[in-house]
Amino acid sequence: MEPERERIVSGKLGADDTSLDTSLRPKCLTDFVGQAKVKENLNIAITAAKGRAEALDHILLYGPPGLGKTTMAHIIASEMGVNIKITSGPAVERTGDLAAILTNLRSQDVLFIDEVHRLNRTVEEMLYPAMEDFALDIIIGKGPGAKNLRINLPNFTLIGATTRFALLSPPLRDRFGAVYRLDFYDQASIGAILKRSARILQVAAEDSGLNEIARRARGTPRVANRLLKRVRDYAQVMAEGTVTQPVAQEALAKLEIDHTGLDEVDHKLLYTIIDKFNGGPVGLDTIAASISEEADTIMDVYEPYLLQLGFLERTPRGRLATKLAYEHLGRPDNRGKPPQPTLL
Ligand SMILES: Nc1ncnc2c1ncn2[C@@H]1O[C@H](COP(=O)(O)OP(=O)(O)OP(=O)(O)O)[C@@H](O)[C@H]1O
Ligand SMILES: [Mg+2]
Repeated sequence: MEPERERIVSGKLGADDTSLDTSLRPKCLTDFVGQAKVKENLNIAITAAKGRAEALDHILLYGPPGLGKTTMAHIIASEMGVNIKITSGPAVERTGDLAAILTNLRSQDVLFIDEVHRLNRTVEEMLYPAMEDFALDIIIGKGPGAKNLRINLPNFTLIGATTRFALLSPPLRDRFGAVYRLDFYDQASIGAILKRSARILQVAAEDSGLNEIARRARGTPRVANRLLKRVRDYAQVMAEGTVTQPVAQEALAKLEIDHTGLDEVDHKLLYTIIDKFNGGPVGLDTIAASISEEADTIMDVYEPYLLQLGFLERTPRGRLATKLAYEHLGRPDNRGKPPQPTLL
């Protein structure tokens, strides 16, 4: 298997993104563009919790990478006026690690656990009473002399984030008072995010240029910001610095991103299903092996957008390329039709 390459249109956090992510991250709910329904519900929950001077219910945020889960967690803490502690599923290795984090929280604080589906079982089980009763059950000693000690915790809010809702165990899932799904953004929202980013980064840009980037940003703010940076570089070196529509088009063409935001890996994936497997259905592992990518990466990063575009279908027997995918790639869809007579 090839090492995972840096992919410009991947929603996943890349090496370059961290500083970009922080500087462009909106700080309050009103600056957070899009996701209107989630924002509205959160706003009500936050106002109510503040009114009662209570901690907010535990919240689960899920959706594809780069849509704003981490950003949203920071905003929730800041709107509540509380501290946020940040960790992730794989980072909390032992129950002792979790106990240390939990006992250091203050009342109403937010504990953010990224990749919450990757907590190991014993740690996860310790989290259950912590979430439900704000208590830690610790066993001291071994054998017949072992004692069960219950430590009370401050009322805190757990915010869990995951790209894989289905991998969350039902007992953990059920302990979140609210579950919000972040969806791909529409083009207007991505346009608005780009406008804000261009302002912060002081990029000279015309609306038509930003719209061209928005069209190809896969409905994902992180991708949009990354493309903006690349187009800015191109504009600076090749075109007097201003991001106009032709400049954006040229820059994005050079990056081999087509007009719907698909890149060579998406193309490879679709061509593989269409050409090698007659459009499918074909199993995920078979596709992964054919294009030398991890099955997990395909599921997390590539598929959600292809599904959203209606280019791909998931069936119980495997992945299927749709008629739209054939049209997009300019391939005749001859599935189920009698073979064409060959013209000599
Ligand atoms: N609604 C938004 N408005 C403006 N910018 C946004 C919005 N959502 C996300 N962003 C931008 O996209 C970047 C990526 O968002 P964030 O890190 O919150 O995504 P994520 O869902 O946590 O991704 P991952 O699954 O990789 O952890 C942020 O730094 C921010 O700049
Ligand atoms: Mg994140």
